[in-house]
Amino acid sequence: MTNSQRRPLIAGNWKMHKTIAESVALARAVAETRIGPRTDVVVAPVFTALAAVSKALEGSAVGLSAQNLYWEAQGAFTGELSAAMLLDAGCKYVIIGHSERRQFFAETDATVAKKSRAALSSGLVPIICVGETLSEREAGITFEVIGRQLDAALAVIEERELGSVVIAYEPVWAIGTGKTAKSSDAQLAHAYLRDRIRNRVGPAADLVRILYGGSVKADNAAELLAQPDIDGALVGGASLDADAFGRIIRAAG
Ligand code: 13P
Repeated sequence: MTNSQRRPLIAGNWKMHKTIAESVALARAVAETRIGPRTDVVVAPVFTALAAVSKALEGSAVGLSAQNLYWEAQGAFTGELSAAMLLDAGCKYVIIGHSERRQFFAETDATVAKKSRAALSSGLVPIICVGETLSEREAGITFEVIGRQLDAALAVIEERELGSVVIAYEPVWAIGTGKTAKSSDAQLAHAYLRDRIRNRVGPAADLVRILYGGSVKADNAAELLAQPDIDGALVGGASLDADAFGRIIRAAG
C-alpha cells in the first residue's frame, strides 16, 4: 500500500476454532511476533475466549476483535451480544457481515448496516465484509454486488467516522478454497470500492482501510499487500498458526 494516511492492518479471523486455552496460547504466540511499527494486528477469537485473550494480550501491540455483535444495547435477545458487552470483554474491533454469516445466518445488507451503526456508536471499529460469490463473478456482476453491499453500510456512517471504518473485500469463492484473487483483480475491486466511497464523501475515502481476504497465505501476502488500495488482510485458515500468521504480519512491513 502506498497511502501514508493508512496503517496496514492484519486481522486474524479464527472463526469457530479453538478452546479458551488454545486461544490464549495462540494469542500469546502472536503477541511475541515481531510487528512493524506501522502495522496494526488484530485477532478475532470465539466469544467464549474473548475475555481470556484480552487479558493475555494486555500490554501487547495486538488488538482484539469479535466476530459478530447484535445492534441492541441489551434485552430479551437470547444468544446475542451487544457492542457494550464486547467492549467490556476487551474488544476494539468487530467483524460484521462476513459471507459465512450472510450465507448461514441470514445476514442481509440491512442487518449489516444496523450492526455497523451500533459498533461505531459504541466506539468499536467495524470490519465490514463485502464480496461476490462465484456465480455472481461469472455473471459479471461483481462490482454491482460489492457496490450494493458497500452502499448499505456507508448509508449509516458519518464522514467524520471513516477513519474508524475498515472494509474487507472477501470474494466468497476465494475463502477457504486455496484460490486467491489475482493481486491485479483484487486491486481492481479495492480501487472500485474506494472510488465509490470517494464519490460519496470525497477525499475522506483515503482514510478507509480496505483489507483483502480469501486464502491469504505467507507466500501470497506480500504481492497482495503491495497493491496501492490493499491496506491489509483478513486472514482465516493461516491465522490459526502463529508462524504462518507471523509471516503474513511481516509481509506488511
Ligand atoms: P481463509 O483465509 O481461510 O480463506 O478465510 C478468509 C476469511 O474468510 C477471513 O475472514
